Formats: sequence, structure tokens, C-alpha cells
Amino acid sequence: MRPIILDCDPGHDDAVAIMLALGNPAIDVRAITTVGGNHVVDKITANALGVLAACHDSSTPVYKGAAKPLMRPVEVAETIHGETGLGGVDLPSPLREIETDNAVSAIIRLVMESNPGELTLVATGPLTNIALAARVEPRIVERLREVVVMGGAISGGNWSACAEFNIHVDPEAAAIVFDEPWPVTMVGLDLTHQALATAQVEEKIRALDTALGSFTLDLLAFFRETYRDVEGFDDPPVHDPCTIAYLIDPTIVETIPAPVSVEWRGELTRGMTVVDRRAQAAQAHTRVATRLDHERFFDLVVEAISTLSHRKDNAHV
Ligand code: RIB
Ligand code: CA
Repeated sequence: MRPIILDCDPGHDDAVAIMLALGNPAIDVRAITTVGGNHVVDKITANALGVLAACHDSSTPVYKGAAKPLMRPVEVAETIHGETGLGGVDLPSPLREIETDNAVSAIIRLVMESNPGELTLVATGPLTNIALAARVEPRIVERLREVVVMGGAISGGNWSACAEFNIHVDPEAAAIVFDEPWPVTMVGLDLTHQALATAQVEEKIRALDTALGSFTLDLLAFFRETYRDVEGFDDPPVHDPCTIAYLIDPTIVETIPAPVSVEWRGELTRGMTVVDRRAQAAQAHTRVATRLDHERFFDLVVEAISTLSHRKDNAHV
């Protein structure tokens, strides 16, 4: 089992990451924390609660996090995720309230209560919460097993010519996270643009013939349309669950050691992840994901949806 905290900004692909994490026996989701990103944090948090309800999960605690980046104005991805942040679906009513504690305090508490090297922090939104937690309680840096980030790119970008959205939104927070000496695995666009939800993938989900399968198809239909219209993709890249698949089976997501630095001073290069693939990479505390086994990845996703589809609401809260 890999116990994790999932810090996210659902968001269509974050929703699939939540399903994969909850539906695979190798992952133990200790908490979900939310951050402003794809949309404002109140919408993101409502979406997280609704996705948990769709997964029949009433036991996973949800903590609301940062509403704004450390230094930058709020920037959302409404063109991709719609005005609710999770367009295309009507969310079921939440099965629980959000926790009173904020996300940063919760991350610090949960990590400090865990055994050294036990917990992994997975971040699929802007890194504001993670950076704040590391600054307020530096001891989490050596206590965590690993930080896995969906963000950045070895080359290119999707929110600018050279920056990926999560890093672009809060480059200062990303610089803090990548500079801390904890093990960080960057699952960037070079990897996630291989995670295309093709018609064949949708057919496998449709064949499940379950309510959660249908919910997921509605999510993917919206995501397909916006990614086609806005970014010219034939099939939408389901970025965030690649982080979870990497934890379930590292042979599905190949990685290489490489130092990663984040540009936060540049005007044209704000949010660029500078990946140094030259020889000294072996000593790096950071790794970057390069190759995805597409078939095995989506088999995990479909299997998780099937598992959750047959799970009734958890008895305990
Ligand atoms: O650039 C893609 C990333 O930004 C994904 O995590 C998506 O959900 C958005 O947060
Ligand atoms: Ca996300």
C-alpha cells in the first residue's frame, strides 16, 4: 500500500485521478486537499466532494486550501474545465462536509503524525499548498517518502509556449517545491500527452455499464470537446491519474533522474521547468517521467471505475 495525500484542483483529469486512487487497492488515500487552479478554490472543493460522492466514498476527508497563488493573480482554466470547473456532469450531493482544518495545516499534521518515509504527497494542481506546508513546517521535507507532481514539461507548454498550467499559475510555489531536497517526481506534459482517452478507451468504460462509468464518459465528453476546440487535440490527455499509475506500478510510467529548476523571474519564460538532462543527472533529487504504457495505464483506470461502481457508500464516516 502507498498511503498518499492527494492535493488537487478538480478538474476533469483530477476527478479521474481521484477515482484511480480510490479504486486501486495499492493506494490508501489518507486525505484530499484542494487548491485554486482549474477554477476558484470554492468550486474546486465542491467538485472534490461531488466526485467522492459519485465514487460512493463518505470516508475520505477533504480539506480546503489556498485560494490564491503566493504572488500571482488568480488564473483559472475555464476554457478547458468549464464555468463550474467540472463541466459536463451534474454532481451528486456530498456525502460529507469539508473538514474545518485548512489544507496546509492538515498536510503538516498528517505528515508529522505519520512514520518517516510512510506518506507520499501527490500534487495535481498548482503547488501553493505544498510550498506553504514546506515553509511552515520544514520537517515534512525529510519525513515524506516522495512528492509526485503533475506539472511542468521537459520541453514545451500548454498555458504558454514554455509553461504548463499548474507551474505557470504559481511559479514561485513550484520553485520552492522543486528546490527542497525531498525526492520529487515530475510527471509533465511529455508523459501526460501520451495519456490520450481514445474512443477505444471510452468503449471499455461504456462496456462497464455502470453509473460511475457513465459519469466518467460525460466528463470525458466535455473534456474531449474543449481539448479539441481549444488545443486542437483529437483525444483529450488525461494528465493527473498518470501520477497515481506511477505509484501503483512504476513500470507503467518510466522516469529518468534529472535536475529540475523553475523559472519564476522571466517574463516570457515564467513557469518554465528547466530540466537538465546532462551527465550529472544521476545525483539529482528529482526525476522526470518520459514514457507511458498507454494500454496498461487505461486498464488500471477502467478497473478502478469498475471496482468503485460496485462499492456502496462506506458505512463509516
Ligand atoms: O496542465 C494540465 C494540468 O493543469 C492538469 O493537472 C489539469 O487538471 C490542470 O490542473
Ligand atoms: Ca489538475
